[in-house]
Amino acid sequence: MGIITILVSFFSVFANYVFADGHSMEVNVFNARHYKADAELYGKFTNKTGIKVNLINGKSGALEKRIIEEGADATADLYITADAGRCGAMDSKGTLQGGLTSKAIKAAVPKNFRTSKWVGIAKRARIIYYSPERVTGAELSGMTYEGLADPKWKGRLVIRKSSNIYNKSLVASLIKNNGKAATAAWAEGVVANMARTPTGNDRAQIMAVAAGEADIAVANTYYLALMLSGKKGAEQQEAAKKVKAFFPNQNDRGTHMNVSCAALVKGAPNKDNAVKLVEFLLTPESQEHFTNNTFEFPMIDGVSPSPLVVNNLGLDFKQDMKTKLASYGKNQAAAVEVMTAAGWK
Ligand SMILES: [Fe+2]
Repeated sequence: MGIITILVSFFSVFANYVFADGHSMEVNVFNARHYKADAELYGKFTNKTGIKVNLINGKSGALEKRIIEEGADATADLYITADAGRCGAMDSKGTLQGGLTSKAIKAAVPKNFRTSKWVGIAKRARIIYYSPERVTGAELSGMTYEGLADPKWKGRLVIRKSSNIYNKSLVASLIKNNGKAATAAWAEGVVANMARTPTGNDRAQIMAVAAGEADIAVANTYYLALMLSGKKGAEQQEAAKKVKAFFPNQNDRGTHMNVSCAALVKGAPNKDNAVKLVEFLLTPESQEHFTNNTFEFPMIDGVSPSPLVVNNLGLDFKQDMKTKLASYGKNQAAAVEVMTAAGWK
């Protein structure tokens, strides 16, 4: 056995244990988003800190189930997923703990995008896409989410199913701002305006507008950039060129914002390392990685979104900085209730 092999063996055994001062040198991440691209980023964290990142990739539902089942015997340190509504719902189930309150985290992330238990690590907006051929500037002037229920859009709107977390969070934010009764009436108006029974993902809604099946669609910002990038094929790239983006509620509270979030699991075996990893995800290096790979907006100032986002969606829009994203989890059950009552499939 050569000296190199001995050293490598020694290090790999040692790596499964702890630093000399008793700190663990690993962190367990239950990851529900963008597996491949994010794995590179975690590698950079390990190179910098010596802390090994054990990535457990899966769908959000399966990972959440496992976290709930493990309970006090938690193996997860961090749960990373898309949508504040998911992190908020996990908090409601008592599966998270406080601790994401370091100076670095507070300085990086505005208050409305975090709690002590989970923090936003990248931003997205849920916006309106329209056909410039069939929708006039006058029709969209002053347009709001509330306006999606206006009868002038009858038979012209597509949006995905009510079971979709992005819609649950959007409707939860409307309940927070307008109350449950008003939002229930709004949901009925939205259902009455649908061009078809909800089907498909966000990109399918954009495709429907491009194909002339509808005039307006609701979908997240990064999907247009993803389609324009060509990563989803020529057909989607062409479709994306046929729609324009519109940011609602510019004259009042601003456009509905959401985040990819990192949540601190209750009973996390490596809590300090989890906090360090979240801090790393909020550095310019990590933020650039997110914006270039997922076309999200950066969480921190001083980092630019991907050129595909800047050139096709723009940056000069008013974000809703008033509505706390914690309300998406808190109002989730009420949101599902009003959508179901309205017959939103
Ligand atoms: Fe998404």
